[in-house]
Amino acid sequence: MHPDTRTQLEPFLNRIVLGDCREVLKQIPDESIDLIVTSPPYADQRKEVYGGVHPDQYVEWFLPISAELRRVLKPTGSFVLNIKERVVNGERHTYVLELILEMRKQGWLWTEEYMWHKKNCYPGKWPNRFRDAWERLLHFTKQKQFKMFQEAVMVPMGDWKDGRLKKLGENDLYRFNSRAGSGFGKRVANWIGREYAYPTNVLHMATECYNRYHAATFPVDLPAWFIKLFTEPGDVVLDPFMGSGTTAVACVRLDRRYIGIEIKEEYVRLAEERIAKEQDEDGSLDWEKIVRFNSGVAQEASRNASRKSQHSSSS
Ligand SMILES: C[S@@+](CC[C@H](N)C(=O)[O-])C[C@H]1O[C@@H](n2cnc3c(N)ncnc32)[C@H](O)[C@@H]1O
Repeated sequence: MHPDTRTQLEPFLNRIVLGDCREVLKQIPDESIDLIVTSPPYADQRKEVYGGVHPDQYVEWFLPISAELRRVLKPTGSFVLNIKERVVNGERHTYVLELILEMRKQGWLWTEEYMWHKKNCYPGKWPNRFRDAWERLLHFTKQKQFKMFQEAVMVPMGDWKDGRLKKLGENDLYRFNSRAGSGFGKRVANWIGREYAYPTNVLHMATECYNRYHAATFPVDLPAWFIKLFTEPGDVVLDPFMGSGTTAVACVRLDRRYIGIEIKEEYVRLAEERIAKEQDEDGSLDWEKIVRFNSGVAQEASRNASRKSQHSSSS
């Protein structure tokens, strides 16, 4: 990383910035972030709690943010977006699908889609569908070669090892190409004697409500899984919609540096308290330092906004 970039990034490291990510992101230097993992406010949901964007305006609202995220992400970095389209007038709205198409036009590669299966999803009955037990985790990258550490998320082989590997057929001993002509080939015998396998793209995790003050938290294991997969210790992870600080907690546990942005002061406090508990048994915080830092960021944002309005009135 260029020394100037490092100097510009330094004040943001291991901080939750109070502010609107549409403004704060502009202050983060180009190509300085290794991983972005976030769950933005879902269209129109919890509008009364922390704002919300109408599904029809969601793409338009998000695109300037994804453009900034692309600017700050390193070429080898990844962006994991936790999102799920809501039901409007009895059918699934298409804003997530439209967003994917528009982000591709911005230059993002839609590299993969992971699914979060919510193991403990709330029971319910609807006339035309079943309860929704999964959310999308869209994986975007800037290029085909990106940092990925697959060994970090391997899973035990489990019962498959005792059943399938004990009864090997002739086709299991050499690389066997799919009869369907899909180009997919495998040699099952490769897995003999191994304790761990690579996981699937479905993550089975229970929802967690960290506490009653934030209604839409994801479980720590969720960002932690992607942090292990796409970063190394010391790398920088950004969550521009930090909420109760879950991504930061995962970073502390995994020895990564974090940058959080959150628009609601009460959530910034909640996140800071949570992080402090993670770092320090007595949970003590230097509030003066946090307030000083946040007011500096707010001043910079208002300077930028007035520069922008001067520019647009003079042009
Ligand atoms: C779905 S929640 C994120 C929850 C988080 N993953 C957690 O585990 O706590 C989205 C968060 O984005 C915040 N938010 C909404 N608009 C924002 C904006 N423009 N800039 C920064 N934060 C924003 C909301 O206040 C809310 O806390």
